[in-house]
Amino acid sequence: MSLISLLKKAGANGFGFSSTAEEVTEGLDLTGKKVLITGVNSGLGLETARVLSKRGATVIGLARTLGKAESICLQMNDSYYPLACELSEPQSVLECVETLKNANIQIDALICNAGIMALPKLQQKYGIELQFLTNHIGHFILVNGLAGSLNDYGRVIVVSSAAHKMFSYSNGIQFTNFSGSHGYDSHKAYGHSKLANLLFSNELSRRFDSTNFAANAVHPGVIHTNLVRHYRLLVRYGLRTVEKIFLKTVQQGAATQCYVGVHSDLDGVSGNYFSDCNPSETSEFGQDQDMATRLWDVSEDMVSKLINGGTWVDK
Ligand SMILES: NC(=O)c1ccc[n+]([C@@H]2O[C@H](COP(=O)([O-])OP(=O)(O)OC[C@H]3O[C@@H](n4cnc5c(N)ncnc54)[C@H](OP(=O)(O)O)[C@@H]3O)[C@@H](O)[C@H]2O)c1
Repeated sequence: MSLISLLKKAGANGFGFSSTAEEVTEGLDLTGKKVLITGVNSGLGLETARVLSKRGATVIGLARTLGKAESICLQMNDSYYPLACELSEPQSVLECVETLKNANIQIDALICNAGIMALPKLQQKYGIELQFLTNHIGHFILVNGLAGSLNDYGRVIVVSSAAHKMFSYSNGIQFTNFSGSHGYDSHKAYGHSKLANLLFSNELSRRFDSTNFAANAVHPGVIHTNLVRHYRLLVRYGLRTVEKIFLKTVQQGAATQCYVGVHSDLDGVSGNYFSDCNPSETSEFGQDQDMATRLWDVSEDMVSKLINGGTWVDK
């Protein structure tokens, strides 16, 4: 147990920093529920999938390739449905959406979990900085494509991060620098994509107003996973040595997205940001509704360029 686990108290619902995904879903029967999870082959996505499958849900597991999505079959119940979805390739995301629509699958919870962090050097695809493209735009295409496949009371859970506050640009979303060409900082670019995740969830929730759908964002905590693959070996070694004292385990890290994804405590709750399985504070930018609406509009513009074979050019 980490030192923080001992110091942090549980929230009003009895769950907190040290709650695990198994604990927050204990007693739930998810038989008949369909839960889609991106980034299902690793870290928090894998643990989320394993636990929700154990509770009886049909997990639709998305990974960059079908092979990666299939690689976790042995840890899943018989209804597991693996699919390829490379989030940085709009065509791949659209194909995944088409497959699910053709199969007439109605989704109860759509967990936008996949992500990449802190690419040391600027990487671009279709003229867009790769963390923003993967973490935000890929999920934007997926969720919009599947909006009509959400079940009544369907939930969208967007895995953001406290990095939206810690590694923020001073003016929030970089509306004139989605390419990263006009300045790039590996951590701020990650924080930027995570602010986009949060604002996407807020705007989606606003658009869900007067429906039974819900959208919420989460910060899972800090957990040593493959997310740090781009860090230097020494830093990764350092993380390994402090993780038992300060960090969450993967089982604890997956708890918030499982709780927000399926727990009946949150029926009708939308537009919130959760950390340690409880509502939490965002940055000021994280509450900026105008910024969220503007981001949505630009994201639509970007997606329409990309799916028509174009490349994004900063305005
Ligand atoms: N770990 C933390 O401390 C922490 C803190 C705050 C927020 N988060 C967020 O939690 C989420 C899960 O991260 P994690 O810690 O579990 O990291 P992880 O173990 O690296 O898992 C990330 C998953 O995303 C997938 N992915 C990456 N790029 C993709 C792409 N282009 N298309 C499709 N899938 C892609 C990865 O696939 P491959 O294995 O094929 O690369 C992997 O399955 C991320 O959104 C992350 O930002 C994590």
